[in-house]
Amino acid sequence: MHQSFALKGDIIFSQTPQTLAIYPSHYAICQDGVCVGVFAQLPEQFADIPVMDYSGKLIIPGLTDLHAHAPQYAFRSLDMDLELLDWLNTQTFPQEARYADLDYARRAYSIFAEDLRRSATTRAALFGTLHVPATLVLMQLLEQSGLETLVGKVNMDRNSPDNLCETDAQASLEATRAWLAGCRDLKHCRPILTPRFLPSCTDALMEGLHGLQQETALPVQSHLSENQGEIAWVRELCPQSSGYGDAYDRFGMFGGERCPTIMAHCVWSDAEERARMKQNGVFIAHCPQSNVNLSSGVAPVRTYLDEGLNIGLGSDIAGGTHLSILRAMADAVQVSKLRWRLFDQSLSPITLPEAFWMGTRGGGAFFGKVGAFEAGFAFDAVVLDDSDLPSPLDLTPEERLTRIIYLSDDRAVVHKYVDGRKLF
Ligand code: GUN
Ligand code: FE
Repeated sequence: MHQSFALKGDIIFSQTPQTLAIYPSHYAICQDGVCVGVFAQLPEQFADIPVMDYSGKLIIPGLTDLHAHAPQYAFRSLDMDLELLDWLNTQTFPQEARYADLDYARRAYSIFAEDLRRSATTRAALFGTLHVPATLVLMQLLEQSGLETLVGKVNMDRNSPDNLCETDAQASLEATRAWLAGCRDLKHCRPILTPRFLPSCTDALMEGLHGLQQETALPVQSHLSENQGEIAWVRELCPQSSGYGDAYDRFGMFGGERCPTIMAHCVWSDAEERARMKQNGVFIAHCPQSNVNLSSGVAPVRTYLDEGLNIGLGSDIAGGTHLSILRAMADAVQVSKLRWRLFDQSLSPITLPEAFWMGTRGGGAFFGKVGAFEAGFAFDAVVLDDSDLPSPLDLTPEERLTRIIYLSDDRAVVHKYVDGRKLF
């Protein structure tokens, strides 16, 4: 029994990083959760399927947030005048320690899960905290939300405050196994191994996580080359490595066929690190708002795109304040312009279609065939209603989408589908 339906509206998705496919008043057909394609008229064999008529509205693929910290949503926008390492110590670590309290965790994570559900995001890779019960609460809430998510119980056993530090590698690994057992039955919220970053993980912990990764083939997420002070610290902590990425690679936690990996930020990755990411298929989560808030720098996205690296967008809540990946698209263009003007005029700034591509197909690729209305892609769709944004101009669908991206107002998000399931 095949379950099919169609959405009718002004359909836009990325064909390549540079080109948008635009189909005004077309039908996107879903069969068993998978996209069949986009058509001007319903083909013969689909003539009788139900049609959701969203005429006059924009229909875009669901967005992917490739990097965010769910526990940090509670304090987003606070202490944004600090750089990374001070911000971690004064705000982030004390705030994450609160998740030892399961009542607090449930309250905080309920707010986060509901806001993510209501946003234009359909898929996300998220950090929890080191706490197993709280992380399982987060995962159950996300499972119920209907979104497709990856969540990591964070591993950290050094250079962290006493109330947010695992005793040693063994304790951290045992907690990780207990967490994996606890989320075994979830279908839409899956685990991802999450060493916080090298400064907070001992060699023994990284080696143990590598063993667990080999055993389970789970994906991995962490942070890479975000801040210059952090990079200098990693050089001291890992003197045998030629760089930050090399240090992860030596532990076998840096991409490769059986180890899909997301590295957040990559603001300062040099040619060697970029080559290694390309070779290993590592996904970069570009988090433009966080780049600015924490004064980290501006990631060289033009270079990443030109070199053909895997790259998507992240909100990096709460390094980033805003959960919206529409906002991340606009921010990505804006910071790229500043980088071009102030730092390197030989590399052109990224364009809005490139930012849209990163927020849909670029990040979506970490989840498989995701982020476009092409045959065989997961049917993740967002319906945008811009009728509350009147204009005296006769705007094209692309101009309307651009306006919604720059305004980044979730009120425009009126319907959402994930794998063909209607969330609202
Ligand atoms: N590096 C290690 N932990 C964090 C974090 O929580 N946020 C950001 N932006 N970078 C990190
Ligand atoms: Fe982060």
